[in-house]
Amino acid sequence: MKLITATTYEEMCQKAARVLAAQITLKPQSVLGLATGSTPIGIYQELVREYQEGKLNFSQVTTVNLDEYLGLSPENNQSYRYFMNQHLFNKVNIPKENTHVPNGQPQNPQEECRQYEELLAAVGPVDIQLLGIGNNGHIGFNEPCGHFPEFTHVVNLSESTIQANSRFFAHSSQVPRQAVSMGIGTIMKAKKILLVASGQGKAQIVYDMMFGPVTPQVPASLLRFHPDVTVFADQEAGALALAALSK
Ligand code: F6R
Repeated sequence: MKLITATTYEEMCQKAARVLAAQITLKPQSVLGLATGSTPIGIYQELVREYQEGKLNFSQVTTVNLDEYLGLSPENNQSYRYFMNQHLFNKVNIPKENTHVPNGQPQNPQEECRQYEELLAAVGPVDIQLLGIGNNGHIGFNEPCGHFPEFTHVVNLSESTIQANSRFFAHSSQVPRQAVSMGIGTIMKAKKILLVASGQGKAQIVYDMMFGPVTPQVPASLLRFHPDVTVFADQEAGALALAALSK
């Protein structure tokens, strides 16, 4: 696991976006695994800027997103499908049919999970998977629990995630209690993983992921067993890990 730090959030996003831009340029038919949340927004802005400047072409790219809230329609402005359309898909030349986000309103959620795994097997392997990290160490919506979930599954969101994500909703009671998420095993199949973290609030969990025990209580810690993970952190999020590395 490699750590790349940046002085600011903007610089961190530029660095991570460059890796994605290089991937798309070298392999126009790339499969990108994408994340939502506040941290990747600056990366998507960079990619949109490069597209507008004529430097990037998304016409053959395929994307698969990590997760979606259960109960929210694609038109709901809190859904992850809506987020991706707003921040990236509507702003670049990616064909909509090449973009995949789990269905938040499936008739049968277990069947949706099975079908999403099938889809990932059909379009994959993912060339680069972009990840954020929750304050509790979750990646996708794989919450701390007794095991590392292997496949796409239905998750009961933890209280800490509901509280953390309530900043996007008018009230915490409106945060959906369940989501569909790729499993840790699904995520680990990506050829290359970029994990981005920003702000002081992430410093301890970035340290725990990199130096603490590998345990399902810190789901991101399993990434240490992946051969190609780069952590991009701004100065605040990377502070504790950087201090440990320079000892
Ligand atoms: C979202 C996702 C989550 C977020 C994490 C961090 O698709 O998979 O794991 O990456 O909750 O969110 P932010 O970036 O808002 O701190």
